[in-house]
Amino acid sequence: MGCRADPLVSPPPLATGAPASAGAAGLAFSPMREEDLEAVLDIERRSFAEPWSRGMFLHELKIPFSKTTVARACNPAADVTAASGPAPIMGYICRWLVGDELQILNLAVHPEARHRGAGRALITLALREAEAVGARVITLEVQRQNAAALALYHELGFRECGVRRHYYGRGADAVLMQRLMHPAAPVDVDNLEGAG
Ligand SMILES: CC(C)(COP(=O)(O)OP(=O)(O)OC[C@H]1O[C@@H](n2cnc3c(N)ncnc32)[C@H](O)[C@@H]1OP(=O)(O)O)[C@@H](O)C(=O)NCCC(=O)NCCS
Repeated sequence: MGCRADPLVSPPPLATGAPASAGAAGLAFSPMREEDLEAVLDIERRSFAEPWSRGMFLHELKIPFSKTTVARACNPAADVTAASGPAPIMGYICRWLVGDELQILNLAVHPEARHRGAGRALITLALREAEAVGARVITLEVQRQNAAALALYHELGFRECGVRRHYYGRGADAVLMQRLMHPAAPVDVDNLEGAG
C-alpha cells in the first residue's frame, strides 16, 4: 500500500466546512460518488500491490470526516452531454480532516495520466483545504521505495518525521511525513528561563 493509514479506525469528527471541490488548470475536481467506484478501483488496482477494496472505498464515503475527491480532465471546449457522459477520472485523493490535522490516506493517478501534474494538483487541493479550515498539519505515510511519491511530497513542503520499520512487508519501511501549515513561533529560551 502507499500513503495509507488504517481506514477502519474512527476518530470523532471535529472539523468541518472544507470545500467539497476546487478547480485547477486542466482538471476538474468533484467529490467521489458511488458511480465513480469502478473507475477509481481500476486506478487503485493498477497503482498498488495491495489495493483498497470496494468495501474500503464505500466505507470512506460514509464517514463524515472523510473526503475522497476525483480529478477529471477538464476541457471547457468539450460539449459534455448526458450522452457523452463525464470525462474519465484521472486520479483521486482520500483524506480525513480530524481536529487540526488533515491526514492523507490514499492518492493515485491513472498510470496513463501520470507526469502531467495531476498528483501535484490533488495534493495542492488538500493543502488549500487545510489552509481554508485552519488545519495545523497535514500528515501521510509513504513507502520508502516510492520515489515518485516521495519526490512529489518533498517538492510540496512535506518533511520526514518518522519511520515504521517493515510496515509494508520485510524491508519495506513506511516513512511518516508532515507539512506544518502554521509553524509555531520560535520559543524564546532566554525568556522561558527568566520567567521561572
Ligand atoms: C505518486 C503519483 C500520485 C504522482 O502523480 P503524477 O500525476 O504522476 O505526479 P505529477 O505529474 O503531479 O508530478 C509532480 C512531481 O512529483 C515528482 N514525480 C512524479 N513522478 C515521478 C517519478 N516517476 N519519479 C520521480 N519524481 C516524480 C516530481 O517531483 C514531479 O515534479 P516535476 O514534474 O516538476 O518533475 C503517481 O505516480 C501514482 O499514482 N503512483 C502510484 C500510487 C502511489 O504511489 N500513490 C502515492 C502513495 S503515498
